[in-house]
Amino acid sequence: MAILVTGGTGYIGSHTVVELLDSGYEVVIVDNFYNSKPEVLNRIQDITGKDFKFYEIDIRDQEALDKVFSENQIEAVIHFAGLKAVGESVEIPITYYHNNITGTLMLCEVMQKHGVKKIVFSSSATVYGMDNKPPYTEDMPTSATNPYGRTKLMIEEILKDIYVSDNSWGISILRYFNPIGAHASGKIGEDPNGIPNNLLPYITQVACGKREKLYVFGDDYDTNDGTGVRDYIHVVDLAQAHIKALEKILSNTGVEIYNLGTGVGYSVLDVINTFARVNQVEVPYVITDRRPGDVATSFADPSKAFKELGWKAAKNLEDMCRDSWNWQKNNPDGYSSE
Ligand code: NAD
Ligand code: UD1
Repeated sequence: MAILVTGGTGYIGSHTVVELLDSGYEVVIVDNFYNSKPEVLNRIQDITGKDFKFYEIDIRDQEALDKVFSENQIEAVIHFAGLKAVGESVEIPITYYHNNITGTLMLCEVMQKHGVKKIVFSSSATVYGMDNKPPYTEDMPTSATNPYGRTKLMIEEILKDIYVSDNSWGISILRYFNPIGAHASGKIGEDPNGIPNNLLPYITQVACGKREKLYVFGDDYDTNDGTGVRDYIHVVDLAQAHIKALEKILSNTGVEIYNLGTGVGYSVLDVINTFARVNQVEVPYVITDRRPGDVATSFADPSKAFKELGWKAAKNLEDMCRDSWNWQKNNPDGYSSE
């Protein structure tokens, strides 16, 4: 029996595949390389020394997906495949809705056809919207301010409806806070295309001289130093949470939502200073305007994941900054460095 990982060559997917292989699972990956590179496959092999199957397909290609289910004994699916850039989702909403929503519907349809009713889904803390007060708990009202966030909300609703219609499904919806860091080997990590949208990849590119300075989006928020506060979580901790969520749905039915964060918030300046200190590098920055759509503070109450999955983040901000830099140093041009 195998675990199907959609989007398994992406940032979080690749780290999760490593954890799955290390835990003895058989793995089948599907990805269309829209936002990843084939080199990731060699790196996963290198790290784990294990074999796995890979199909280069778009999850919206239902015939191709059906073939994957026919050729393999899939026991459960971990579903990462999706587009994730907030700004881009505002510019090309149809592409986002089509990729994320249609893709998930097609996947669920094929799963149903083959009697596979176990799925772990990548949702986001973005569903807590602008009005809740952190720490966020899973039962708070949800909302979205952009098409990307709305796709996550809609997929959460779709998955809940699927469970209502057939309660032999086991569904785990994971709301990630801010994943950063990289595998300790420095062989896999985050490799964004073009100018990074997110803080850590921008910092690493400034630190290695690829970009001149970091623009800090606002220092007049109601936070300890005025800059935005987030709950950064090491991608390996996050990957390990997927194994726990998977184990839970393999032996249970139901639909459950879990926050995956550390429960601790750090400001942009905390991150810059920690990164500079632990790596002994300079991170020049200037303060600029707030980024539209940003909240002042976001952090999780991760206690449900601890109670029900027995999972808790183990790595701290220093580990995250060290591992992000280790990846960037070893791969100045990401997977194109080869
Ligand atoms: P990523 O872009 O690195 O990985 C996603 C992978 O899915 C890529 O390899 C891409 O090529 C693939 N993909 C996209 N559309 C596809 C399709 N139609 N068919 C096949 N493959 C497809 O992103 P990530 O950071 O690893 O995120 C994984 C998931 O987690 C996404 O659903 C994302 O929305 C969600 N998420 C990410 C973050 C974050 O900060 N990284 C936060 C919250 C939620
Ligand atoms: C962003 C997305 C969110 C998504 C999350 C994880 C927006 C509005 N939100 O959230 O939907 O779920 O990424 O992928 O894009 N910052 C800077 N300078 C930069 C980059 C970021 O100061 O160049 C600041 C931000 O203002 C924020 C913090 O750093 O305070 C973290 O930013 P980022 O990494 O983009 O994550 P989020 O804002 O949490």
